[in-house]
Amino acid sequence: MAVRIIIGAQWGDEGKGKIVDLLSAETDYVVRYQGGANAGHTLKFDDKTIVLHLIPSGMFNGDSKCIIGNGVVIDPIALVKEIKEVEELVDIDLKERLYISDSAHVILPYHKVLDQVKEKSRGSDAIGTTGRGIGPAYVSKVSRIGIRMGDLLNEEALEEKIRKNLADINNALKHVYGEPELDADNMIKELKSATDSIKGYICNTTQILHEAIEEKKPILLEGAQGSLLDVDHGTYPYVTSSSPTAGGACTGSGVPPLAITHSLGITKAYCTRVGNGPFPTELDDDAGEKLRKNGQEFGATTGRPRRCGWLDLIALKYAVRLNGMNELALTKLDVLDDFKTIKVCTQYELDGKKINHFPSDTEDVERLKPIYKSFPGWESVTRDISSFDDLPENARTYIKFIEEFIGVKFTIVSTGPKRNETIVR
Ligand code: GDP
Ligand code: IMO
Ligand code: MG
Repeated sequence: MAVRIIIGAQWGDEGKGKIVDLLSAETDYVVRYQGGANAGHTLKFDDKTIVLHLIPSGMFNGDSKCIIGNGVVIDPIALVKEIKEVEELVDIDLKERLYISDSAHVILPYHKVLDQVKEKSRGSDAIGTTGRGIGPAYVSKVSRIGIRMGDLLNEEALEEKIRKNLADINNALKHVYGEPELDADNMIKELKSATDSIKGYICNTTQILHEAIEEKKPILLEGAQGSLLDVDHGTYPYVTSSSPTAGGACTGSGVPPLAITHSLGITKAYCTRVGNGPFPTELDDDAGEKLRKNGQEFGATTGRPRRCGWLDLIALKYAVRLNGMNELALTKLDVLDDFKTIKVCTQYELDGKKINHFPSDTEDVERLKPIYKSFPGWESVTRDISSFDDLPENARTYIKFIEEFIGVKFTIVSTGPKRNETIVR
């Protein structure tokens, strides 16, 4: 029985959606365990493209059950829209396939407004959030004033909680931020209408997973964001407000650590970051522009251009250690197909000293100067190649160098966005 966590090894958008979709054919459960609709996971199969924000990426390949776990923060209005989009795209009855944790916290319209006004008030220190209310929703959760999905089913108590929370929030909006107050009646009405559409999905998903583990069923735990956006281990404060790393998979699903058999890290063949915060190998030159163009590096949720740079092996090794990754998937190899020279960062210089680790102090990360090793490009098309041995020699040399540096093998190499553009080793 495999219980596999699939985690972004960089700053998000590594291609987690594609890999989860690929592997979901061989699993019984696919579980999102943290984050919310800040995620944008893109799936391409047949002639279809879909971007998922909350629904796990296991709906379209095989018939696994898809769980939105307790660690996710759910915007019910966004979820209703997403369910409709999926049902319009493919002939799937989600009622048979989707399970939503009753303990997952709800993102209310006031969380989105707070996210946006707080960003505005930070000015040049803004995090560059997706504006989806993620941070404020997790704040409500840990301050123990959150509303959980299960609470949506008790209309009277729900209304009381919303009115109480909103009184405080309106106070802050008016007096701290100078913004207009929000109307409780409208909010309650919208929420009730969304609840009517999704109440059939809400249940105790932890128990479902405990039974699945006892029955030795295979499970995939799908991370959102990436290790370097982790609230504890990322480039704080330029992080998201949850734990994409391995520990978050346990707390966000109820799956115990000893049940996990595989930790699969996903990394692009280069690096991207969207939003603010340090990015040691970022390129502001033609090579960066070419990565963005070849890789179509624009945010799947916000459409923002992604910052691009060379692969950072020190950061990757840090992610591998944080998550105990024992398998890696390399994505977007094809994006490098027409580069004459490809670089990877193998060391940093910090204030004149060479270092081999990712600093915990974000101000130190800002001052890092990457030291690169250069590789000749392969300058040929890799998209249709289905076996590792058929890749151009320079591509194999590049990949093998990374594997040796990190000490973990690539079990998957992705050479295009479609499900079938993949080499499985
Ligand atoms: P996620 O958030 O980790 O699921 O990744 P995103 O979906 O936000 O971004 C990855 C983008 O790269 C999507 O547009 C995918 O369709 C695309 N993609 C995934 N794998 C590959 C690949 O191997 N090659 C190319 N060219 N695109 C890929
Ligand atoms: P997927 O799952 C890339 C970034 C935002 C911002 C920071 C905090 O598609 O990889 P938030 O809205 O979470 O409070 O924003 O995190 N961010 C992502 N970057 N991919 C994502 O998700 C992201 N989700 C959040 O850009 O810098
Ligand atoms: Mg994404």
